[in-house]
Parts: sequence; C-alpha cells; structure tokens
Amino acid sequence: MEQQTTPPDSEPHILPRNIHFDFEVELPVNWHSDDPAISHFYDALSLTFPQGERFFIDSVRLFADQISDPDLARDVKAFYAQEATHSREHMSYNALLGTHGMDMSGLERLLEKIIKWSKRWMPAKDQLALTCAYEHYTALFAESILGDERVMANAHPFYRDLWMWHAMEEEEHKAVAFNVYQTVAPGFGGYLRRILLMSLATFDFILGIAVLQMILMAKSGNAFNLRSYGRSFWYLWVSPGIWRHVMLGIFSYMKPGFHPDKRRVDPKILEWRKLYQAQSIRPVTSETPLFGAR
Ligand SMILES: [Fe+2]
Ligand SMILES: [Fe+2]
Repeated sequence: MEQQTTPPDSEPHILPRNIHFDFEVELPVNWHSDDPAISHFYDALSLTFPQGERFFIDSVRLFADQISDPDLARDVKAFYAQEATHSREHMSYNALLGTHGMDMSGLERLLEKIIKWSKRWMPAKDQLALTCAYEHYTALFAESILGDERVMANAHPFYRDLWMWHAMEEEEHKAVAFNVYQTVAPGFGGYLRRILLMSLATFDFILGIAVLQMILMAKSGNAFNLRSYGRSFWYLWVSPGIWRHVMLGIFSYMKPGFHPDKRRVDPKILEWRKLYQAQSIRPVTSETPLFGAR
C-alpha cells in the first residue's frame, strides 16, 4: 500500500547537521559481523560517496535558477548541506581504509575523471536523472538499514551510528532531487529519460560495488576467502538480504506515477525519524551516540 509519509510542505523536514565522526586507527577493519566481505561491501559504498555526492549536488545546482517554489528552494539548500557533510565524513572514512592497508586513492582519481567526463558530455537533465536514480538507491538502502534491525545488529557501534546517520538523512531528503527533476523535466519525455538513466545507474552500481568489494578483499589479504564471500552473499541476498530489498525497490521507480514520498515507510523508520530529530535539537559531538541509546 502506498501512503504519504512526509510532513506537509510548509514544515521544514530536512535538517542539515554538521556531524563529525572521529575515524581512529584502532577501529576494527572487519567491523561488521567480524567478516571482511560484509565490511568491505559497506566500505565499497563509502568509496563512491565523496565524489558521487558532490556530483549529486552539482547536478541539482545546474537547475537552481529554475526553482521558484520557496519550499523546494529551502529543501534544496538543506540537501546540499546534508550531502556535503556526508561527502566530508566519507572522505575521512576512506582515508582510514588507506591507513588500514587499503589505499584506493588511484581508483578515487579514476572515479573523479569519469565524473568530470560525465559532467562535460552528459546533457544536464541526464545528470539530474542519474542523481534521482542514485538517490532512489540510497533511499532503498536507508529503508533496509533503518527498518530491519538485523542489518546493523552485528556492526561495531561507531560504524552503526555512521551508517544510520547517513541513512536517516538520505531518508529525509529522498524526494528533493526528484522534485527538482519533475519541475524541469515533466511529462512522458521526463519519464523516459529517468527510466533510461535508472537502467544505466543499475548497471554501473551493481558492477562498480562488486568490483570495489573484490579489490578491497584482495588488498586486505582475503582474495580467496571463499567462506567470507559466502557469508556476504547470504547477508546481502538472503538474510537480511539488503541487496534483495534494494533490487525489489527498483521496480516501483519504473512506474510512471512514481514519487519517493509515495513509498510505504516502515513505522520503525518514522520512530527513528522522531528520535533523530529530537536528538538533533541538542548539539551533537563525536561522543554523542546518535542511535546507541536504543
Ligand atoms: Fe548522502
Ligand atoms: Fe542523498
């Protein structure tokens, strides 16, 4: 069943927070389930964020002068602030991977070149449609991370807090790029473009994350750790099945009438949102457990 789950437009519901995490060298490498492949799955996602989230901001900024709705203009600013903070914190995350023997700076430079090339040659609306597709992906991951207790149950508390913070903010701003896109690319042409770009994003994303995960496995000395690959497969596709949840969620995006706010939101996520927004009234430091109180 579909239902509207965000507050009315007049209420600000995207709160930028300047949160800082201390990525200390003592943090465990196999921080999730004591398993390299599961940990490196999330590490692979992290590697794409600094560049990717800057691309998201820039693609929305291309259309900033066409946004006349003041509520949307306010949400766009909050979206920029949230994504910029995510990008900064994931840079620190990725630097720690380097300290732990998984230096990926060469690949990050390659990603930077690919994004630069895309910005130069892709039509502006394609860039925004690509952002909408990836924002749907991050919203689906957020649904899984926040809505299914098993997903982060065996994670180190530091990383659990980081991923839940990021997931919560992705859930908050999931409709912003889409609302901008609907403003500038309405009708059947806009629909067709976003479907095509979702197909491209899906291909890029599945392949890209799998390759990054395998490189990280090789760099951490686990290239032939089949047991760990098996556990990661089970975790991602079967139980709790985070990839399975994400893949099923792609179908809803293909409907002509899709809107991110129409997806049913698990009541647990609404509870998280309340707790999170209440906590964010207080100044948050790196010592403040964002979700650890539960
Ligand atoms: Fe983000
Ligand atoms: Fe986002």
